[in-house]
Amino acid sequence: MAHKRIVLIIGGGIAAYKCLELIRRLRERGVGVRTVLTKAAQQFVTPLSVGALSNDLVLTDLFDLDDEREIGHIRLSREADLIVVAPATADLLARMAGGHANDLATAVLLATDKPVLVAPAMNPRMWSHPATRRNVALLAADGVRCVGPAAGEMAEAGEAGLGRLAEVPELLEAIEALLAEGAPKPVLPLTGRHVLVTSGPTHEPIDPVRYIANRSSGKQGYAIARAAAALGARVTLVAGPVTLPDPKGVTTVHVETAAQMLAAATAALPVELAVFAAAVADWRVVNAAGEKIKKQASGAPPALALAENPDILRTLAARGARRPRLVIGFAAETENVIEYAKKKRKSKGADWIVANDVSPETGIMGGDRNSVHLVTQQGVESWSEMDKDEVAMRLMQRAAEHLLANEAAAE
Ligand code: CTP
Repeated sequence: MAHKRIVLIIGGGIAAYKCLELIRRLRERGVGVRTVLTKAAQQFVTPLSVGALSNDLVLTDLFDLDDEREIGHIRLSREADLIVVAPATADLLARMAGGHANDLATAVLLATDKPVLVAPAMNPRMWSHPATRRNVALLAADGVRCVGPAAGEMAEAGEAGLGRLAEVPELLEAIEALLAEGAPKPVLPLTGRHVLVTSGPTHEPIDPVRYIANRSSGKQGYAIARAAAALGARVTLVAGPVTLPDPKGVTTVHVETAAQMLAAATAALPVELAVFAAAVADWRVVNAAGEKIKKQASGAPPALALAENPDILRTLAARGARRPRLVIGFAAETENVIEYAKKKRKSKGADWIVANDVSPETGIMGGDRNSVHLVTQQGVESWSEMDKDEVAMRLMQRAAEHLLANEAAAE
């Protein structure tokens, strides 16, 4: 640990006094400790006592950024190997999760690309509140590491439970482990997850040279596959006939018909997240000819017998224990977009439906931009128009948060 430097952000909690001991132990190990005290922290420890122990900079608010030492929040994080927040109060965690930067502590945290370790400490009821659970899940998805809290007696008489700041040896161990890792890249939010994406149209043959198709370009589905891979997922993309290059780092399975798409999607299971962006042909030709159909001298057109294709989304959403944990479908509509999407979500067994208006005047089908509504059990969110890549990234980030929050709730 010697010659390493950390920025210790001390939050406003009764446990702040433990930081004095932590600073002493870190200094013994040759670790440089610069400290930032939030306004609330100064109610519990003084800059003077912290400075005496750390023998290094102690900063208290944004005002310090302008002083003659020219220590800005950017430089503060650049010169550190690790940022430690202890005690991380419920309020500080909420502001971190929300990306606030309204004091020096949160400005440093927002500006840093270094690993961040939080050591929460708060009343057990605050720790178990859904808002705190959500914030902790969001921070974990951002790659923030966490140590504690521990169980035990609280400062308030008669209160006990999970919420005590981890003890100094435990804090030291977590800090040591992170410093030993060097400056690891934050864990990507879909790391370790298997994601299935269907994309593009399907072609349903009439004879060896003719087929039924639709105008889907596959762009949105391909963008989702790329976004999921960029967020760390192992991705299987089952693609109908499109003219797009295979995304890098993604297993792409090329299919032609709905039946082949269903088989390839089923073979990809198990997956945690499945996104059905394909515009699957609703019907296939059951009397497809083995040879090219010739025009009749009589001028009579051939009669095509159609049968409904299997619904891939519905089939996979119904698979009991092997059901993906999050099933996202698309609804391409030309009228009553939200109303139809809500119905589709229920009737198909999807968790979320991404609905878009594909009326020809929108230019969405085949275009690079999209304007979508996300329909979930909780309600409808209408996103402003953006690139299909951006829709994909936002959707995958939301999916990652959802998976993580659900796991946290299940624990
Ligand atoms: N879907 C699928 N398999 C099918 C048909 C659709 O997996 N055979 C999926 C699509 O990928 C999309 C969603 O179901 O995620 C909605 O498909 P859509 O074609 O818009 O809806 P339909 O079920 O065909 O309903 P309708 O034609 O009445 O709008």
